[in-house]
Amino acid sequence: MSGSQLVGSLLDPASRADPYPIYARLRQLGPVWIEEMSTAIVSGFDDCERLLREPRLSAERWRRTGSFLDGVALPPGTPSSVRQPWFLSQDPPDHTRLRRLASRPFTARAVARMEPTIVDLVDELLDRTAGRDSFDVLADFAHPLPVTVICRMLGVPLADEPLFRRWSAQLTQFLDGFTPVGDLAGETPGWVPGLIEMHRYVNDLVADRRAHAGGEDLISALLAAEEGGDALTHDELVSTVVLLLVAGHETTVNLIAAGVLALLRNPDQLAGLRADPGSAPAVVEEVLRYDPPVQLTARIAKQDVPIGDVVVPGGSMLILLLAAAHRDPDANPDPDRFDPHRTEIRHLGFGFGPHFCLGAPLARLEGRIALTRFAQRVREPKLVLDPPPYREHVNLRGPSELPIVHRS
Ligand code: HEM
Repeated sequence: MSGSQLVGSLLDPASRADPYPIYARLRQLGPVWIEEMSTAIVSGFDDCERLLREPRLSAERWRRTGSFLDGVALPPGTPSSVRQPWFLSQDPPDHTRLRRLASRPFTARAVARMEPTIVDLVDELLDRTAGRDSFDVLADFAHPLPVTVICRMLGVPLADEPLFRRWSAQLTQFLDGFTPVGDLAGETPGWVPGLIEMHRYVNDLVADRRAHAGGEDLISALLAAEEGGDALTHDELVSTVVLLLVAGHETTVNLIAAGVLALLRNPDQLAGLRADPGSAPAVVEEVLRYDPPVQLTARIAKQDVPIGDVVVPGGSMLILLLAAAHRDPDANPDPDRFDPHRTEIRHLGFGFGPHFCLGAPLARLEGRIALTRFAQRVREPKLVLDPPPYREHVNLRGPSELPIVHRS
């Protein structure tokens, strides 16, 4: 099968449950140039790692279409913050400035302070499943957790949390690498109303925090973040809050779901985690390697960039298949085995270089607590469907449901 046929089969929903054999065949081909898509597909570990730091590549995927959300029809009255690009898809110097201001209040200490809240939330969710002999790991456990955690950090009132769950679910399509905004010219895709509603809500939340200064929440901290007389503008702040919510939700949901799935398919590892909660950080790293929530990321070549035998012409796209790179046997021996005890776990699950995930400490903490408490509290869990059904997303790949039975 040629490289472009393999990419075609990757886009086929039938491959969602297990795209790894296709990744392996792509990796054997080395970097692949797909002329009709003006896109290079990169799947080797060293190549992906190097390219994530390559200054000749741009993260400004939206530049292809002009400005952020250009070509997408937005109704009159849309808040101006909607068109403020996320720093996830900006280059230096804008990226450097925005990331620095946004990361100041998002410290490891602020995240560690969340630990007791996360333990309580995880236990509350598991308490609710205790009297039943079956539950859906996704709907009842993985899905409600990350959005509740980030809402608590931002100081969103409890009653409004369901709004965020709905918006976040709608917006994953926006983040999915295979739905380029530029291809939607003139249309209003399904996620736009959610994005606008969310911006309106966050605009009001920011205005409220500005009026009541001195709060302990993340928005108040972002408002106070200042460096050398520089601070986030109102639109930059709103856009950053929306980014934190969207980038942190579905990804963490999929980390928990992929972790439960891997543990249930490997009962020895589940028993190992139950017996030794100290192994949880390694379990989380191995899930990020073995079945990563973010399967790929994209960059644009600012000029011609050689990768092995392929010269990627300036202006074209590069898809870095992180999930394929993780199973490169040169980086991780015996890569198809789920083994938290391997000597070294090499992965790019949170990216690498200047765009390395800002929320990694939070995601790791949530993953660690959720998987440990699951292992300790859910007795004799078994998968009802294996493989479970998967959502259609290629990039933010994850099951749409994960029913299990257990001893109540
Ligand atoms: C960036 C993965 C959770 C916020 C990234 C990138 C990856 C990633 C791969 C780099 C993208 C690129 O280079 O193009 C994940 C995974 C998560 C997770 C797998 C969960 C398991 C979170 C959380 C938050 C968050 C909880 C915040 C609350 C961000 C932000 C960026 C980012 C703001 C952009 C960083 C930059 O461009 O400088 N994430 N993420 N992520 N993530 Fe995460």
